[in-house]
Amino acid sequence: MTVLITGGAGFIGANFVLDWVAHTAEKIVNLDKLTYAGNLESLASLNNNPQHVFVQGDIGDSELLPKLLAEHQPRAVLNFAAESHVDRSIHGPGDFIETNIVGTFRLLESVRGYWQSMGADGQRSFRFLHVSTDEVYGSLTPQDPAFTEQHQYEPNSPYSASKAASDHLVRAWHHTYGLPVLTTNCSNNYGPLHFPEKLIPLMIVNALAGKPLPVYGDGMQVRDWLYVKDHCSAIRRVLEGGRLGETYNVGGWNEKPNIEIVNTVCALLDELRPRSDGQSYATQITYVKDRPGHDRRYAIDARKLEKELGWKPAETFETGIRKTVAWYLDNTEWVAHVQSGAYRDWVTKQYKA
Ligand code: NAD
Ligand code: TYD
Repeated sequence: MTVLITGGAGFIGANFVLDWVAHTAEKIVNLDKLTYAGNLESLASLNNNPQHVFVQGDIGDSELLPKLLAEHQPRAVLNFAAESHVDRSIHGPGDFIETNIVGTFRLLESVRGYWQSMGADGQRSFRFLHVSTDEVYGSLTPQDPAFTEQHQYEPNSPYSASKAASDHLVRAWHHTYGLPVLTTNCSNNYGPLHFPEKLIPLMIVNALAGKPLPVYGDGMQVRDWLYVKDHCSAIRRVLEGGRLGETYNVGGWNEKPNIEIVNTVCALLDELRPRSDGQSYATQITYVKDRPGHDRRYAIDARKLEKELGWKPAETFETGIRKTVAWYLDNTEWVAHVQSGAYRDWVTKQYKA
């Protein structure tokens, strides 16, 4: 048996591939375009492992996809591939439309062709799992209840709008063509292998480099944070037990304002790698201009996933953030390569791409 993952060289995808190999004996084919966010060095431990097959390519490639699907005959396709950074989507929304909307459409079409060519048993057990975000639901006030799966879509950034569009396409391919789909909408992830342009890894890396820690606006925007390995276990659970056509919210029950996150990171670094001048890393916090259209609060109600499929996060924020800071302290080479772009040379050398 085989599954095909897209975007498996990115932050969550790479964590998922590593977990998959650790938890199952099933082959995993990994299709990734290797944009700036894709890093095969994250999967270096699988170099000689035949359970993982890497293919460089675009989810929107309508020639490559049917060939790949026919060759590997996966029982499931898990779509992680996306442009994922809100700030980049504000500076240049084009890539987000191209990959997240047009790419998902083309991928759905390739998968539909493959699925329709399968026998009845194969069709019945096949799954297309689409990995999405809580940002499609828009912004909450402090008093609002957390997002349930019934919350209407109110995306506010080019990123969240493009993800919302992709969710709608996935839904439509189920209702119109019967494609057996599942969608997960998850809150902010953190953990190992996170590209240091996102809040938590950026703060760790900047703190250690003696640089300012840029907090947008008043720092009181609230996000729900989930340790990435818990997101991976939720996806595995939904893949195996989720009801067809349903969406499942995934969250950590960890709502925190950004400034609290940054202070926690600083306190952990003060403990684990104190500054040589004895001062706290918190002295590096710098308030900067707010992000345009910045959503004030996200919060996830993950009770459906718990009630139907028995999933709960294993990590609290306190345990997860400690592991995360420790990982960055132990993996300075990974960070240095990502920052210098050196992993691209590494990929060329390693895979002769
Ligand atoms: P990421 O930016 O770290 O990784 C994305 C990966 O997709 C990269 O390896 C990139 O090379 C690849 N990719 C981009 N365009 C592609 C294309 N056209 N074809 C093939 N591969 C392509 O993102 P991430 O944080 O790992 O997020 C993975 C998924 O989870 C995304 O769909 C994102 O919307 C969703 N999500 C992320 C979070 C979060 O907090 N990071 C939360 C909820 C949902
Ligand atoms: P981010 O990690 O970009 O995720 P998202 O925008 O998808 O939630 O940002 C998390 C929060 O941190 C968000 O409210 C924006 C804020 N933020 C900062 O305050 N400073 C920064 O340098 C970054 C990257 C984010």
